[in-house]
Parts: sequence; C-alpha cells; structure tokens
Amino acid sequence: MKICIVGLGYVGLPLAIQFARSGADVIGLDIDQSKVDQVNSGRSYIKHIAAKTISHVLKAKRLSASTDFGHIKTAEAIIICVPTPLNKNREPDISFIIETGRKIAPHLQKGTLVVLESTTYPGTTEQDLRQVIEENSKLKAGVGFYLACSPEREDPGNPHSVVATIPKIVGGFTPACLEKATQLYSLAIKRLVPVSSCRVAEAAKLLENIFRSVNIALVNELKMVYDAMGIDIWEVIEAAKTKPFGFMPFFPGPGLGGHCIPIDPFYLTWKAREYGCNTRFIELAGEINTWMPEYVVRRVADALNARSKAVRGSRILVLGIAYKPNVDDERESPSYLLMSLLADRGAEVEYYDPYVPVIKPTREHARWAGKKSITWNRQTISSFDLVLIATNHSCVNYRELAGWTGSIVDTRNAMAEVPPSKAKVWKA
Ligand SMILES: NC(=O)c1ccc[n+]([C@@H]2O[C@H](COP(=O)([O-])OP(=O)(O)OC[C@H]3O[C@@H](n4cnc5c(N)ncnc54)[C@H](O)[C@@H]3O)[C@@H](O)[C@H]2O)c1
Repeated sequence: MKICIVGLGYVGLPLAIQFARSGADVIGLDIDQSKVDQVNSGRSYIKHIAAKTISHVLKAKRLSASTDFGHIKTAEAIIICVPTPLNKNREPDISFIIETGRKIAPHLQKGTLVVLESTTYPGTTEQDLRQVIEENSKLKAGVGFYLACSPEREDPGNPHSVVATIPKIVGGFTPACLEKATQLYSLAIKRLVPVSSCRVAEAAKLLENIFRSVNIALVNELKMVYDAMGIDIWEVIEAAKTKPFGFMPFFPGPGLGGHCIPIDPFYLTWKAREYGCNTRFIELAGEINTWMPEYVVRRVADALNARSKAVRGSRILVLGIAYKPNVDDERESPSYLLMSLLADRGAEVEYYDPYVPVIKPTREHARWAGKKSITWNRQTISSFDLVLIATNHSCVNYRELAGWTGSIVDTRNAMAEVPPSKAKVWKA
C-alpha cells in the first residue's frame, strides 16, 4: 500500500515510520526542504526519534520524503498532519489544513482516502477540508474520494508511548469512508476505536485536551491556596493518588506549554460561539493557567526579597526552555514568558537547557532568538542570584545545583529528592 503523509513534524514523522515498519510504502511530504533532506539522509531533527530508526526504514525502501505533491497521484491514502495554531487574536488558524487540501486536490485520484489527523474543531474535516478538496478536484467526498478523521495521540518523550499501541479513534464521512480508514490504520495500529462521524472524532480529541487543561488549572489553583495555608500541593497529590478509584493525578507547573494544551481548548471555544454557547469552564481554566507565569514571578520576587535583593539588577537563571521534561519541543513554552516577565522587571536573564542549545527565531518570542544556553559548571551557576526551575529534565544534576546556588524557585518539584543543602528552595 502506498501512503502519503503530509507534514513531517512531531506527529507525521513517527506515524510515517510506524506505517513504513508495518510494510506500507510511505512518502512523507513537507514544504520544509530541510526536513525532507534530513529524512532522506537518515538524520533525525526530533530528539526522541533516533536517526537509526529512520535509516532502518529508508534502507528497507519503505520511507522517503519529498516536497513534490505529484506523489499524491499514486497514493492510495493521504494522511494530513499539519499544524493547527492560533492566530495573533488567539483564534483557530486552519490555513495549513486548507493549504494542504488545495495542494493535494489537483493530484487526487478516484478512490483515494484522505484522512485528517491535525487537532481541530468539529466540522473541519467534513466542511472546511472537504470543501477545498471538492473545489480544487473533480471529485466529491464519499463518492469520488474517501474522507475520514483520526486525531493523533502522540505523547512525545514518553518512552512507553508507542504509536502502534495507542488506541486510535477513527471517524468517516460515510460508513464506506470509515471502513476504508479502519482498513488503513489496522495495518499499523493495534486497536482502533471507530466512531459515527468525523465530528465525533474531532470532538473526542478536544475533550481529551480540555480535560487536561481544566485539571491542570485545578491543581494550579490548589497550589496557590494550599501554599497560603502552608501545605505542600505535591505532598497532597502524592497522598490523593493512592486512592484506587475516581482520582487521577495532575501536576501544577509554571504555565501551559506545547502545541496542544494551551491551544486546542480555544478551537472549541471559538466554534462554540457560532452555536451561541459559552464555554465558561474552558475560559476559566485558560485564565488560571495563563496567570501562572505571573504567580511564579511573584515567588521569584519573594525569594529575592528574602535575601534583601530586588528583581531589578538580579542575575536569574531559568532552568529548562522545553515545555516538558526530556524533550526538545519548546513551542508555547512558559519559560519564554517567564524570561520576558523577569527581563521586563530589570533582571539579567540567562537560561540552561541541554535540549535547546540555542533559541530558534519565533514570531511570539523574537527577543530571545539566537540566545544560547549557558554551560553547566559551578563557576557559572554560582554567579546567579537565583535559579528558577521551569522544566525538570532528568539529565540535570539537581544535587550539584543545590550545592552551587543559594536560592532556587522550583515549579516542578524537581528538588524533592535532593537532600537539604545551603540552598533555600521556594516552591512555586
Ligand atoms: N506534537 C504533539 O505532541 C501533537 C500531539 C497530538 C496532536 N498534535 C496535532 O498534530 C498536528 C501537527 O502537529 P505537529 O506537532 O506534528 O506539528 P509540527 O509543526 O511539528 O509539524 C508540522 C509539519 O507540517 C509541515 N507543513 C506545514 N504546512 C504544510 C503544507 N501545506 N504541506 C506540507 N507540509 C506542511 C511543516 O513544515 C511541519 O514539518 C497539529 O494539529 C497538532 O495539534 C500534535
């Protein structure tokens, strides 16, 4: 079977490898020439995907990459894994999906299956994507081509999360579309969860991510309340999670990060307005989570104040730019905001992150582009007035840190296992 996977990012690349390993002939299509070149030469640009995993399927001639959408002509299935960000007004930006639809449509052959994997609001597949493909090809969905939606559930950095073993929701535009899509995914995925429509599949993905956003907001709120009461939220969660039923632990942090949780809930909020519905729960969770960096900066100010220092003029090291431990993904990372808030208050800010040696240019955090991670040694670390732990990478030596610095603000409970030292640790 020949499959084209459009978008070779955090979602598309592992999926392409999984299908290739399962015996399909996979062509990865991307507009980014450097990604295409790296895949074709067996190199990886995603930290948790080993280069040898790519070269293995390359050598077996199961995977190749290209920028040429002409390959669509010979594909039996096309899977779309392109970004779905928010625009600068924090509204859904499905332009990458629409652009992909426009590019594949002229090459689409009768009987081809098109599946959308990107996270988006209900209706995108059967309204927006369908319309652009139908307008730019001579084919009608459900008649000329099959159309389905199967949202991705990738968990980057989790060594136990393997694409093949994560159950996959699949919804089709028609029953025949669903059947075609389940046939495709059963090649590579062990358990499929068919649902009655593309809209249900899209809605289920949003529920999963909103569930996380709301529960993270809850523990973030409890963190502030319990701290005022002199109670450690981390100890509370450890105790509560021993309940064998009806409880699932979520952990507080310095704010939401990554491509999904800070963004996806607002896809629903926006769409809900079209139906005259308010999404107060989602908005409230967003409000609390968005406030977290400000709260953390307040704790930084308290910690400095306790040593008769001001934020202005202090040297502060932010530890961790990636939005979660042990990955190199720094999209939407709250660390950028923390650095900006501190710098705006007059602090001299540096960062350390072995996964992000240099900060890439981004539209949102242009001021930090090109900044390099400091090197990890006693002399450098001890030159800071305070270290703010924003991400708890497991490769960081927290014992050394405790010995080298006097003040630590810890948003991840990274110092929990470190024996008491001269460093004062402030949880935040
Ligand atoms: N990263 C995750 O953990 C994760 C998990 C679940 C779902 N998702 C969702 O999956 C989708 C993709 O996310 P990602 O993290 O892989 O994004 P990404 O930015 O890592 O990768 C997207 C890729 O698509 C390419 N692209 C953009 N427009 C294109 C076009 N018109 N034609 C071909 N290629 C194009 C980009 O160059 C990039 O390589 C998003 O909707 C996201 O919300 C992501």
